[in-house]
Amino acid sequence: MKIKFSLVTIALGGLIWFAACKADPLTSGLGRQPNLPDQPYSYALNLPPEFGVINSGPLNFIITPEGDTLFFFNGDFSGFGFGFNAQNPNITDAGATLGRVLFYDPQLSLNNRISCASCHKQELAFSDGKAGSVGFEGKVTPRNSMAILNAGFNNNLFWDSRVQNVNELATKPIQNHIEMGMEEMANLERKLSNVSYYPALFEAAFGSKVITEDLIGNALAQFVCAITTTNSRFDAEQRQSFVGYSQMERMGHDLFFSARTNCARCHAAPNFAAPDFAGGEYGSTGGGTFGGGGDDLKGAANNGLDLAYADQGLGEGRFRIPSLRNIALTAPYMHDGRFNTLEQVIDHYDHGIQPHHSLDKNLRNADGSPKRMNLNSMEKLALIAFLHTLTDETLLSDPRFSDPFRQ
Ligand code: HEC
Ligand code: HEC
Repeated sequence: MKIKFSLVTIALGGLIWFAACKADPLTSGLGRQPNLPDQPYSYALNLPPEFGVINSGPLNFIITPEGDTLFFFNGDFSGFGFGFNAQNPNITDAGATLGRVLFYDPQLSLNNRISCASCHKQELAFSDGKAGSVGFEGKVTPRNSMAILNAGFNNNLFWDSRVQNVNELATKPIQNHIEMGMEEMANLERKLSNVSYYPALFEAAFGSKVITEDLIGNALAQFVCAITTTNSRFDAEQRQSFVGYSQMERMGHDLFFSARTNCARCHAAPNFAAPDFAGGEYGSTGGGTFGGGGDDLKGAANNGLDLAYADQGLGEGRFRIPSLRNIALTAPYMHDGRFNTLEQVIDHYDHGIQPHHSLDKNLRNADGSPKRMNLNSMEKLALIAFLHTLTDETLLSDPRFSDPFRQ
């Protein structure tokens, strides 16, 4: 009797499951109106001081988290890793609102099944939890979907740093065959003009109902740039000398910023990403005022994953040094998603670094051999505990970045 009952339950459960699968969540936005607030949300960038750039006439300065003051001239922040990349669009509330609708709308893809959010999910800090992402017609991307966070601060984007600002990239995934398959942008302009809610949203954002490829890209870029994350426990603790950190988190923090690991030389605070401002160690232009070897490294480095790379990235196995903000949410890790856990990542850095001829100097010993960190199990756990403090819970439920088609 008992067995019978559970069989029925399984059969019923299967039916429900089957029905749920048939109502493909990716197409359910079709024919639906986005649910938008009467007063648009505010998308202004209210950055805390460690991210903010203070503009005082021709002379500008930035205060780093370590308390150093860096000066530079001309009000041009474009080459600077710590500020908002000035080549990105200005963010308006109406522009970012339109960008939000576009970001979640599967009608941007050729078969109405894939939206940006299919591969960039808010609850996973805008990554997708898969090694390769499934795009248009079920094809899989060769690289791991990147978390979208603080992209507006970066001077180099994508795993191979092939794009220098968000403006440049926002429409590329739409055209990309694997991701969204919309090869003729003119078709998309026509298609969106016939969707009931778009003309009014474009008018609010840009003063005209006319829909163009440039404006689609601009609105998407505004939304992407508005997704900032500056609200982690690390940020709060930094303002109070880390008094609220546990002993483990404190130990992990100190290891992260130590010469023993050199983590922070590459994943530099406050964004825990490449220090890629002009002239910086991984600068895009090199040879600037603040040191740097003059190499055009585009915020990328070889971190010793392989002796022979299947994917060369920017070249020589160099890949963009990604931000570690929200890293606890964005597994699997590395450009090909090869590591499922942070434990595996730490083991790589601890004893797995390969002696590739382009291995970055920050992961070598003085004699050129790969670093061996010899972390004990407590120290490994401490590093992981510290990485967890970079998670920003507010980002995951912020209604400004949520799916407007969800009822
Ligand atoms: C099929 C999955 C897929 C879809 C759909 C998709 N992306 Fe991506 N996205 C990726 C992958 C994979 C990468 C990394 C690609 C690489 O480095 O070559 C990425 C990278 C990015 C980045 C770079 C982040 C950084 O910090 O460098 C941004 C921004 C981005 N996508 C925005 C978008 C937008 C906007 C859309 C919709 C127009 C979109 N994506 C649609 C998979 C996807
Ligand atoms: C030489 C510069 C460098 C140093 C030093 C360095 N990293 Fe990285 N890190 C990188 C690069 C480059 C990648 C991306 C590599 C790839 O995907 O091929 C990366 C990737 C990661 C990732 C995965 C990110 C993601 O989104 O998938 C984590 C986690 C990480 N590093 C943590 C650390 C920790 C912890 C340390 C110190 C023990 C450290 N890194 C030291 C350059 C560095």
